[in-house]
Amino acid sequence: MGGRHSVSPAFDAGASAALMDRIYRRQRHIYDATRKFYLLGRDGLLAGLSPPPGASVLEIGCGTGRNLIKLANTYPDTLCHGLDVSVEMLDTAERAIERAGLRDRIRLGKADATSFDPVALFGRASFDRVVISYALSMIPGWREVLGRAADCLSTQGSLHIVDFGNQASLPAGFRVVLNRWLALFHVTPRLTLAADLAQIARAKGLYLETASRFGGYALCAILDALPRGITEDRAIHLPRPPSPQVELLHIAS
Ligand SMILES: C[S@@+](CC[C@H](N)C(=O)[O-])C[C@H]1O[C@@H](n2cnc3c(N)ncnc32)[C@H](O)[C@@H]1O
Repeated sequence: MGGRHSVSPAFDAGASAALMDRIYRRQRHIYDATRKFYLLGRDGLLAGLSPPPGASVLEIGCGTGRNLIKLANTYPDTLCHGLDVSVEMLDTAERAIERAGLRDRIRLGKADATSFDPVALFGRASFDRVVISYALSMIPGWREVLGRAADCLSTQGSLHIVDFGNQASLPAGFRVVLNRWLALFHVTPRLTLAADLAQIARAKGLYLETASRFGGYALCAILDALPRGITEDRAIHLPRPPSPQVELLHIAS
């Protein structure tokens, strides 16, 4: 591995790192070519990010760097950061970023998402956009990850999540096969994700939007420091914590 990325002191090279390295040691070479067929909703998430000029973006569980590279190309004025627990995935990400000529715009760090320290990793405490794409379903301590992600949002920041959903409108047979297959990769859909996000929104005075997509195959969520479409200067007269207005908007597709 090139060793260009930083390492969080809080990083515990423990079971999750070993498991992810084992899963992805070979898979990483076919990851981008195969996952585009079933990690649905990633491009929609990236398209809806609308980062402000000069924004800093963090992806938690960045894998091969596929989303970071798209992000950096779509929003040329952003500085992107990615963390992952797997050195195998980071190695692939590092090479892809190099090939894309984006070394100056994308920084990588090795850390466990449940305990990462953004200052130690990247020298900054907050980000304008935080992305978690199909990583929570692989992290047993996913609730801690949500807390950490919400804590490192800037005053105008938002957290954008896409992951496997509750499959509510999918045929029963398809669900059985899908869940067996996901289990092979240690993937568990987080069925209470929307409810947990609503709790965090209430506790921290954030705004929440969730949307079930593709018959419940995917859940998309945005946890926002400001109501959607409102900039910080316009938000000054809006109710702020400790009397937060939580907007919980659930759109079923
Ligand atoms: C399914 S991949 C998603 C990669 C990328 N976000 C995407 O959308 O293509 C899940 C990623 O989460 C990472 N991951 C799993 N557990 C983690 C943890 N505890 N801390 C940080 N990253 C973790 C894995 O190594 C893997 O790269």
